[in-house]
Amino acid sequence: MTATTEAKATNIVWHDGSFTRKEREDILGRKGFTLWFTGLSASGKSTLATALEQHLVAHGVSAYRLDGDNIRFGLNKNLGFSDQDRTENIRRISEVAKLFADSTTIAITSFISPFKADRAVARELHNAAGIPFIEVFADVPIEVAEQRDPKGLYKKAREGVIKDFTGISSPYEAPEAPELHIRTDLMSVEEGVRNIVAYLEKRELLTLSKGLKRESDGKSDVASKTVKA
Ligand SMILES: Nc1ncnc2c1ncn2[C@@H]1O[C@H](COP(=O)(O)OP(=O)(O)OP(=O)(O)O)[C@@H](O)[C@H]1O
Ligand SMILES: [Mg+2]
Repeated sequence: MTATTEAKATNIVWHDGSFTRKEREDILGRKGFTLWFTGLSASGKSTLATALEQHLVAHGVSAYRLDGDNIRFGLNKNLGFSDQDRTENIRRISEVAKLFADSTTIAITSFISPFKADRAVARELHNAAGIPFIEVFADVPIEVAEQRDPKGLYKKAREGVIKDFTGISSPYEAPEAPELHIRTDLMSVEEGVRNIVAYLEKRELLTLSKGLKRESDGKSDVASKTVKA
């Protein structure tokens, strides 16, 4: 099945909520935004995203991961890996991430998202809505990714079993100016998470002080097991 972005619904009218996003943020005491991981397969997007989500939630911060493979089990199960389907995959995720962020949850997406133009669409959607969009480039040389190959996909791509495989038979267009550039072959998962949290705190999108207090008052065992930011 081929997806299309053509608008088919007519006679629809946007219904405003009864408060603004700012009012919602003030009431709930937190800000939503999207952290958009991009990178080759096995670059560490899911590993970093999972560690970050665990760290944030353990500190009482509302964060939710939208992961490439997981989303393809459900929402995007009708999409394959052709250029057109990859584009539609990213468009849908952008919209869903934007909704999570709008609701004041931190949306953490981990998709290869190999095409610059598609990532630009995701960014533009967020910009238009006034929602911060932070592109995180999980970067490793392809040789390292291929050596890691945790799902055995590079092997299958080399054997020609998988067509359109990013980095082998389909292009990966690296971001030119990502907000964060994490070389996962040069830093540990913990260092990666620390860098991301430090960046978010610097931009005043996040403060973990509340969570850190919980950690010391003994109410959260999970928090104490996670990375010290
Ligand atoms: N510093 C690091 N950061 C992230 N992952 C690392 C790091 N060092 C080693 N790894 C390993 O690299 C692999 C990354 O796999 P992961 O599934 O996270 O990649 P991915 O980018 O989500 O790939 P895909 O696009 O196929 O879902 C894991 O086996 C992980 O343990
Ligand atoms: Mg992944």
